Amino acid sequence: MNLKPIWRFSAPAFACLVALNAAWANEPLATFQPGQVWNDTSGKPINAHGGGILLHAGVYYWYGEFKEGRTYLSLVNKTWGGTRVIAGGVACYSSTNLYDWKNEGLALPSVAEDPDHDLACEKVIERPKVIYNAKTKQFVMWLHQDSPDYTAAHSGVAVSDSPTGPFKYLGSFRPNAGVWPLNVTARDEEPNTTNFLARDFPGGQMARDMTLFVDDDGKAYQFYASEENGTLHVSQLTDDYLKPAGKYGRILVGRSTEAPAVFKRNGRYYLIASGCSGWDPNAARSAVADDIFGPWTELGNPCRGANADQTFFCQSTFVLPVAGQTNQFIAMFDLWKKWDLQASRYVWLPLAFDADGKPVVQWRDQWSWPVKQ
Ligand code: GAL
Repeated sequence: MNLKPIWRFSAPAFACLVALNAAWANEPLATFQPGQVWNDTSGKPINAHGGGILLHAGVYYWYGEFKEGRTYLSLVNKTWGGTRVIAGGVACYSSTNLYDWKNEGLALPSVAEDPDHDLACEKVIERPKVIYNAKTKQFVMWLHQDSPDYTAAHSGVAVSDSPTGPFKYLGSFRPNAGVWPLNVTARDEEPNTTNFLARDFPGGQMARDMTLFVDDDGKAYQFYASEENGTLHVSQLTDDYLKPAGKYGRILVGRSTEAPAVFKRNGRYYLIASGCSGWDPNAARSAVADDIFGPWTELGNPCRGANADQTFFCQSTFVLPVAGQTNQFIAMFDLWKKWDLQASRYVWLPLAFDADGKPVVQWRDQWSWPVKQ
């Protein structure tokens, strides 16, 4: 997504305006260009993958995986094609208009000197999300922390007094150890070889792809892919947002949902997500619920236009409510380059609703505000 200037006025009119008000008239109108290289304000491609956005005090902060270096496929991940670059940590960019992004550096760097550290370069740091806790006045980051072969399946937590960091890493765990979900059935509690919920009950539930969502009442929730990526969990956080509160639900049971992005519209909760095929694209899915813990009703693939059946070759990461605009959302996707992960790009598209109230994401080569339907 390059910033492409589009001048509103003819050349003579423009010259007059420059004379009248140089600062205002010089301002180009930028467009979002989904899937194109998107440079930051210093001219370098934005490096913040699998990310999310926090709006704080009028500034948008974009956090994402910093991916730099050679892409490799280690033996342990060969069967499922899990290519990697070494973990670079969590990058942060800031913007006041969503087009122009300033690189704020690494909010949470990886750790080069200690191979046993959770944030060691050989390990996995994915899908970071940051929320602000008004009570503690802290910025709280949750991320998917994992071993190089993705078997640890942990959630990592970090805090900072400033949105740009540096964040202090508090550690990682599998959420909800020793707690049954709100919608547990007698059968769920019976251990057997395919019952991963019961298997992981004592030590905590697996947590891979994840997102955070803060509700209108200030309560925060983590959505994470659990049970060997088979089922999503919605897990309420403690008031300080640092731990699971011990209240969670299983949703989209057995649907192998990844890359969840959650938002709220007219009192209902919505989710956009992907199926489970690594970096390779699949058809996006969406769902709605009146209660955040479920039940969630699937609404199908929200994507429309060329290659919609493969989510425009992308995978969801976040849905951003646009500040100051009622029910205007941007759906954010990653365009993964599986064999050159550092060159992965971004696809941001407006999210609308059809007559049946289902979310719709229509492909556009470029777009800008106000969105033309
Ligand atoms: C995807 C997942 C990504 C990353 C990738 C690794 O399924 O959504 O966040 O974990 O697999 O191959």
